[in-house]
Amino acid sequence: MRRYIPALAALIGLLSSQAAWAEGDRIRGRTLAIDNCSQCHVIGDYNPYGGVNNSPSFYVFAERPEVYRERLRTFDQRRPHLSRDMQVSAKEIQDIMAYVATLERP
Ligand code: HEC
Repeated sequence: MRRYIPALAALIGLLSSQAAWAEGDRIRGRTLAIDNCSQCHVIGDYNPYGGVNNSPSFYVFAERPEVYRERLRTFDQRRPHLSRDMQVSAKEIQDIMAYVATLERP
């Protein structure tokens, strides 16, 4: 039994890391979202009454990770971002996703 303990611990670690659907620096992600996304999206308590037209709130992303995880990852290839030169690196979008994963509607 003893020799299975490390494997078991690794498995538990793996499962719990999947519970948070995005890994990254959530504090930095919030700042990045303020700087790059808040002009059009509600990104949380920073601008609860913000957002333009049909832009989805980041709360919606948080509530439906099965849909929005991939859309966030590829946001710069999706309208309307496609036509803009968004200066957000792959690492930065990871951080933004980590921030999104912490959001809960007030
Ligand atoms: C110039 C305004 C603007 C900025 C800046 C902006 N967005 Fe958006 N975004 C929109 C609008 C409008 C939509 C809705 C598009 C639609 O439904 O056709 C959208 C949709 C999205 C979607 C859903 C895409 C889909 O296909 O469902 C994601 C994910 C997203 N934005 C992420 C981001 C992130 C992350 C940032 C910041 C790094 C950002 N956006 C910055 C306007 C913006």
